[in-house]
Amino acid sequence: LAGIKVNLRSALRQYPDFPSPGILFEDIMPIFSQPKLFAQLLEALELQVATSFGSGKDAGIDIVVGLESRGFLFGPTLALRLGAGFVPVRKQGKLPGDCETAGYTKEYGQDFFQMQKGAIQSGQRVLIVDDIIATGGSAAAAGTLVRKLGGQLVGYLFLMELDFLKGRDKLDAPVQTLLSGQEEALNKK
Ligand code: PRP
Ligand code: MG
Repeated sequence: LAGIKVNLRSALRQYPDFPSPGILFEDIMPIFSQPKLFAQLLEALELQVATSFGSGKDAGIDIVVGLESRGFLFGPTLALRLGAGFVPVRKQGKLPGDCETAGYTKEYGQDFFQMQKGAIQSGQRVLIVDDIIATGGSAAAAGTLVRKLGGQLVGYLFLMELDFLKGRDKLDAPVQTLLSGQEEALNKK
């Protein structure tokens, strides 16, 4: 796992002042353009899940919930490897039918996430995944939605944590991350 983490970290690219001044953007896309790295990412995520829950189907995860957009890149693939279903959290106005809504704070005001009612059965064990946890606002809203739908939130899994932003303090389920961004110069994403 340690070797894979080194490979993943070295594939990340940093872009200063994107999408706005003062933000050092961590671009995860190079991982997905290289099939060996993409495969290693999934292997690492599954190993990380196994440390808390068990391997593959034995993890007992019923549903992987991924956050739009970047949580969609590996959430469905991880779900298959765990023998779980995949359910999206989307930005407001994208999902048809009856939805639950939860607000969260972004750098520029408020935004909203939604999930379709009935997308999770009551009591199903849910793992929420996303690429990066920064302030934790997005992940906290997703957790609220999972619980509104009756899901049992067993934990969160992120590729990267900007730990100096203390986003995990906003979350009330166990948090696992593969990489951490310790550079104080990093601001968000
Ligand atoms: C980024 C990132 C996480 C979130 C983390 O997504 O992919 O989802 O921000 O920030 P937070 O912990 O402060 O809430 P973004 O909203 O930029 O959208 P995207 O995934 O569609 O690019
Ligand atoms: Mg995102």
